[in-house]
Amino acid sequence: MTSSPGRIEALESLLAERYSCRAFRSDPVPRATIERILTAAQRTASWCNSQPWQVVIASGAAARRFSEVIHDAASGTGSAHGAQSDFPFPREYKGVYLDRRRESGFQLYNALGIARGDKDGYRRQTLQNFKLFGAPHVAIISTDEALGVYGAVDCGGYVNNFLLAAQALGVATIPQAALAGFSDVIREHFGLGDDRRVVCGISFGFAETDHAANSYRTNRATLQDAATFLEN
Ligand SMILES: Cc1cc2nc3c(=O)[nH]c(=O)nc-3n(C[C@H](O)[C@H](O)[C@H](O)COP(=O)(O)O)c2cc1C
Repeated sequence: MTSSPGRIEALESLLAERYSCRAFRSDPVPRATIERILTAAQRTASWCNSQPWQVVIASGAAARRFSEVIHDAASGTGSAHGAQSDFPFPREYKGVYLDRRRESGFQLYNALGIARGDKDGYRRQTLQNFKLFGAPHVAIISTDEALGVYGAVDCGGYVNNFLLAAQALGVATIPQAALAGFSDVIREHFGLGDDRRVVCGISFGFAETDHAANSYRTNRATLQDAATFLEN
């Protein structure tokens, strides 16, 4: 195991720079770059090395077709949240979780000039998920039904490594549970087997850096809030 200079700094700066991009340019990411991201993410650790993730990458016309189908589904339900998710959405956000959820939501709405309580504004912005925020590519991450929550956890690690590898290559990303809220639509559209469970999507491309939606960064709790050290 080596700890040569600069390695932790490189990782720290990727973690510090990465953010969820909600406005993309339309120009595509070269196929070789996408394959490099996917090759890096293949190194993700998993329970018994089961590597349960399967990923479908839709680009260009295929991404636009998918976006039309899922946007129709989301606009039609009246609720763009978790209408038919393979994994139940959180039962409740309370305490600090509710506070953090609200804070990050208000950061986005403030950046976009959407007033507090403007339900139509919230809904319009939520529907941007199904336009892939203008991204030219979307990755759909699924796991195997029989692997249950362990498979989903492994896919979470895969998603994170995808985000960091993309960041290292100058590619912006946003993981999207909103897409997984329409798991049946995704399974049918991409011809996924009945044994696949949709974990989330990742829209990706080059960031529209001047867009207001990309103008703020979310906060994090302190180490003291998250970690407990026991020594005796
Ligand atoms: C698994 C997962 C699913 C997410 N789903 C969505 C989503 O559907 N729509 C969205 O706008 N953001 C989504 N996000 C982004 C989070 O809101 C974001 O990661 C969080 O607020 C922290 O901000 P940051 O990613 O900019 O650091 C998701 C993040 C993760 C990890």
